[in-house]
Amino acid sequence: MTGRLHVSGAKNSALKLMAASLLAPGTTRLHNVPQIQDVRTMSEVLEFLGAVIDFQDGTLTIDTTKVESHVAPYDLVQRMRASIQIMGPLLNRFGRARVAMPGGCNLGPRKIDFHLRGLERLGATVRADHGFVEVSAERLRGTSIFLDYPSVGATENLLMAAVTATGTTVIDNAAREPEILDLGKFLISMGARIEGAGTSRIEIHGVDELSPTEHTVMPDRIEAGTYLVAAAVTGGDLEVEGITPHILQMFLAKLRAVGVHVQENGRKIRVWGSPGDYTGTDVATLPYPGFPTDLQAPMMVLLSLAQGSSIVTENVFENRFGFVDELIRLGADIKVAGHHALVNGGRSFTGAIVRCPDLRAGAALVLAGMMGEGVTEVRDIFHIDRGYEGFTEKLRSVGADLERVDAEGEPLDRPLVETPSPS
Ligand code: UD1
Repeated sequence: MTGRLHVSGAKNSALKLMAASLLAPGTTRLHNVPQIQDVRTMSEVLEFLGAVIDFQDGTLTIDTTKVESHVAPYDLVQRMRASIQIMGPLLNRFGRARVAMPGGCNLGPRKIDFHLRGLERLGATVRADHGFVEVSAERLRGTSIFLDYPSVGATENLLMAAVTATGTTVIDNAAREPEILDLGKFLISMGARIEGAGTSRIEIHGVDELSPTEHTVMPDRIEAGTYLVAAAVTGGDLEVEGITPHILQMFLAKLRAVGVHVQENGRKIRVWGSPGDYTGTDVATLPYPGFPTDLQAPMMVLLSLAQGSSIVTENVFENRFGFVDELIRLGADIKVAGHHALVNGGRSFTGAIVRCPDLRAGAALVLAGMMGEGVTEVRDIFHIDRGYEGFTEKLRSVGADLERVDAEGEPLDRPLVETPSPS
């Protein structure tokens, strides 16, 4: 794999900004929005509520003037957990929100108790019935919220709920992911008064109303990390552009520890290396700025190749080793005990049929197939389409040998997710 790839807009930011557009009636414009299934699903959620959406050349225009419903049905929410992020904005705009309990990636029992407890602290009444959660409040009141854990989704939902609460809200032990900073900037441009988004203490001074705005979605650090691993495992030389390296610091440190060459240059990251020279290293996933859980699966592929043993500890989600059995089918030697995995490296992979259990693991299996001898067939790639824009097309453009095929193994002449036009 040799060449250059441009990073798309971040899925995990775009989805929240779309939800936040509900906060103000009128037309919000988001640029650099990735063409991925999750964005389509969130568009369907907003359209169901009454929004009018147009998506052209990476710009998503959302007119929320006619949004009247405060109910998000099961059929939509179960397809994507991030749909619950509409709870805070709807509560804010209509004084109530009724949202089906979420689905999404198969990463263990992903609860929403921090979201609900925080909303209660802000004065909302929370009721659960028939698989729905209903939250209501005449007007939210500023308060202090201490999160048990720096949950990304809870921090975002509570931030979006608190922007028009009366008085001041302080969220302590807030998640510090860069996507929260992006959401903070977006809300500020709508007229919100927020200090400290992207730090562990966020202070929100409630305002009476917000107005629609225009914003460019930040780059997708997980997509960038996935392609950097792809280059490392195939012994390639790849430059990923359009991303500030510091938001991937811990990940890049681990690549270097393995023996991958990493060069940071402005908004570009170049990696190259020889798989025969790589050595194992231990990795523990943690909230930002720790090693991102979303890059744990791709990292396991790299560690399987590196000489020696590595211990990977998953601290963020239960069940995030679900893909290990699939990786073993391709030739990996990994033993899982609880939330630790012992990766015995120095392996070479051979082609086989494998199945994506979730989004990031799906991408990792494709990387494993790319470095393996023979043909690997990765099934259930709808998971990958949820979060990677033009995945196969981007990889092919830098020399990867892979194609999208239908259930009978026939090449699909048109990508399910269109390649973005060059920007
Ligand atoms: C977001 C990202 C996901 C990423 C994760 C951690 C989106 C759409 N998804 O997910 O890609 O892997 O951050 O960086 O942005 N928890 C509770 N109760 C709650 C909320 C969370 O127990 O109310 C637990 C979860 O089960 C999990 C941990 O906290 O074990 C972290 O979850 P959280 O940070 O909320 O992740 P998400 O926002 O769901």
